[in-house]
Amino acid sequence: MLPDEVMQTAQRELCEYAGLRASVMEISHRGEDFLYIRRETESLLRALMEIPSHYWVLFLSGGATGQAAAVPMNLTAAADARAAYVITGHWSRRAAAEAQKYCVVHVAADTAASRHTVLPHSLDIPADVAYAHIASNETIHGVEFPAAPAVSVPLVADMSSNILSRQMRVADYALIYASAQKNLGPSGITVVIVRPDAVCPRAQTPAVWDYRRQQEEESMYNTPPTFQLYMMGLYLKWVKRRGGVEAMERQNREKAALIYDCLDKSDFYKTPVKGDCRSIINIPFTLPTDTLTASFLQGAEKQGLLGLKGHRALGGCRASMYNAMPVAGAQALANYLSEFERVANRK
Ligand SMILES: Cc1ncc(COP(=O)(O)O)c(C=O)c1O
Repeated sequence: MLPDEVMQTAQRELCEYAGLRASVMEISHRGEDFLYIRRETESLLRALMEIPSHYWVLFLSGGATGQAAAVPMNLTAAADARAAYVITGHWSRRAAAEAQKYCVVHVAADTAASRHTVLPHSLDIPADVAYAHIASNETIHGVEFPAAPAVSVPLVADMSSNILSRQMRVADYALIYASAQKNLGPSGITVVIVRPDAVCPRAQTPAVWDYRRQQEEESMYNTPPTFQLYMMGLYLKWVKRRGGVEAMERQNREKAALIYDCLDKSDFYKTPVKGDCRSIINIPFTLPTDTLTASFLQGAEKQGLLGLKGHRALGGCRASMYNAMPVAGAQALANYLSEFERVANRK
């Protein structure tokens, strides 16, 4: 979800932005008006996440999928360099597979045997790897690191689905990347937050993903996704007005508790992830049969509870509750879960 207020502002400003007689999509990305939007968006993100001032903040294209390749191309000096990957679900596995094309991947842990329902007890991270990579929240499997794992090499995190959802210490990471479409705005723009001393781009690194070059050019080596950047700015102002990341976290924990409580006290629904690695954002769950699942999803749609179908890689159902989802939305889902179970058990 995007917040209604953000959508309404965008709608009002769509055809004419700030009295310029042009849309934000029509003005030059090198003009003062757009540069102001770009700089304000970066300042807002820096303030909300308390990003240390020496870190670079880049706005790039290509999604988190692009960053799976860009990370090794910028953080390892040569193709025989090693990087450690912690595999806790679909997205970290995909990142490792992509990185394999550009460096030697060392698997630090793989929770496949548990079907990715737990976090690894320990990590095997050799001292000579250039970095260790995690997906801080596995969007499909619903497993989240409650805090940055302690490692003695630079830590890289794909935060695509939990950035801004709870407080994090940016200084624990050498690099954070996130595609925008979950908790930053619409798809088409990717944020990279990186500590400059970790960066050593190879000569073959495409210029659009060369962190150093993009930093030198304020992420404008090529034309940036201007509308997406503008939308991110509106979104970040909304987060700030709502009380910042602390307030988002409080609300996200409240929403997650409503749904987990409901699932945990039921014999009808099953949710695979237990304990403190449960995601507060993405909650996968299943019903006893495919027929019941289909009927559950159909009934949910009728009540305006949308997008509950699980990812095709896992099936079942999934409640994804990003920042813009109000507590009332989670409450409506909890009510529907209970009611559906009651009716199904009567039959
Ligand atoms: C954790 C995570 N990583 C990576 C991706 C891929 O992002 P994109 O499709 O923007 O490349 C997603 C998409 O949902 C995700 O949730």
